[in-house]
Amino acid sequence: MNSDETIRLDRKHLWHPFTPNSVWMDPSFHPVSIVAGEGSWLVDAKGRRYLDGNSSIWTNLHGHRHPRLDEAIRGQLGKIAHSSFLGLTHEPAARLAEELLAYVRDGKNPEKLSRVFFSDDGSTAMEAGLKMIVQSFAQTGQPQRTEFISPEGAYHGDTVGAMSLGKSDLFHRHYQPLLFPSRRVMTPFCYRCRFNRAKPETADARSYRQCGFECAAQAEEEISRAGEKLAAWVLEPRVQGAAGMVMHPEGYAKRTCAAARKVGAKILLDEVLTAFGRTGPALSAHAEGVTADVIALAKGLSGGYLPLAATLATEEIFRAFDGPVENTFFHGHSYTANALGCAVARASLALLQDPGEQKRREDLTKNLRQLSRTFWSHPHVGDVRQEGAILAVEIVAERSTRRAFSPSERRGARVCQAAREFGLLTRPIGDVLVLMPPYSTTPDELERMVTALHRALTGEIPA
Ligand SMILES: Cc1ncc(COP(=O)(O)O)c(C=O)c1O
Repeated sequence: MNSDETIRLDRKHLWHPFTPNSVWMDPSFHPVSIVAGEGSWLVDAKGRRYLDGNSSIWTNLHGHRHPRLDEAIRGQLGKIAHSSFLGLTHEPAARLAEELLAYVRDGKNPEKLSRVFFSDDGSTAMEAGLKMIVQSFAQTGQPQRTEFISPEGAYHGDTVGAMSLGKSDLFHRHYQPLLFPSRRVMTPFCYRCRFNRAKPETADARSYRQCGFECAAQAEEEISRAGEKLAAWVLEPRVQGAAGMVMHPEGYAKRTCAAARKVGAKILLDEVLTAFGRTGPALSAHAEGVTADVIALAKGLSGGYLPLAATLATEEIFRAFDGPVENTFFHGHSYTANALGCAVARASLALLQDPGEQKRREDLTKNLRQLSRTFWSHPHVGDVRQEGAILAVEIVAERSTRRAFSPSERRGARVCQAAREFGLLTRPIGDVLVLMPPYSTTPDELERMVTALHRALTGEIPA
């Protein structure tokens, strides 16, 4: 089938996530139809090659068609693709659980996590986490602990529970009647913080902020106010992805999680985006020595190959479900612990721990830091922030005042659309341009990504 036919059928029958009809259905818009991938490259139906600048929406770790991941799936496919996990078990899931728990312990960080509940994606991993926490409190004599606190702009997925914790007027306004109430505290976002008295500099705003760390203090106060009603403090540790790759000031996770512990609440970390070395360590929270009671993992868990997610929990939480049948965790999905997903996730974890691969990732992170300096030469760049292998470039109408472009101008989207012409695929978050390369990206490919984005920026927004 040629690509025109694919697009005709697509426009007739399909419905894409987070995609305005006005854009997709506009005949002057030409969707890219992907037919193949190889390493950090994607190939479209016309044979054009593009660098996968956001790792296929933050999922892909080792590149496309990695021989070891492909082999893991083939090996499992020769046995069975899927069987129910209700009342049955299988080796790929049992082994993956053990390896995953050892991986997040990371040799030095004493995680108390000892249980793995599998599901399909980030939203379901979070949903399971919320329910586990509330039910475990209810079954251990603290039924009043039903409240959750998270930072403004948090994004945990699109199911009703996950949406209830997050906050987006644009995304959620029609669903308000469905959402449960939750408390929110200010986003720890140095570049746009009203407490940051520092004038803009050509550096990551976290490095020159002048403030009294009000974001952490406010969160501590709110946590303490919630006290014994608080079920959990919920955090995307160190990087709030969909909020605009907001990178938190050093120490925020540590202080706020300590406050939650003080009032006897649980800590629920959403590491859907940040785990598996994306920000450096196995878990992003490890950079601040934070340990959690529940952790949601997805995206990179299968190396970006198959929908697989995991909610990790402590033995204490698991044991709260002992006793009569009514104490069961009445929650699950048809594809829980899909065997193909588990097999490929094991191969991905093995690669992540390969010393050669770790060195490659470290080099990638260093090169990205070095190359990203080029963005400062553009006067409409307001903030360049990086955490591990995540780079965010925030473009503004006026650097000296941090004044934003009007959202209706869709500047970020226009820059990323233009980047296609230079062989780069990536998606912005508003006016935040994102580069999050697969770990397989070579120095030359990385340089091409940065150059393509810079050229697109200069073309769309002349200096
Ligand atoms: C931090 C975080 N949590 C949860 C999710 C939801 O994951 P999924 O899209 O797999 O449901 C996302 C998705 O971007 C995310 O970034």
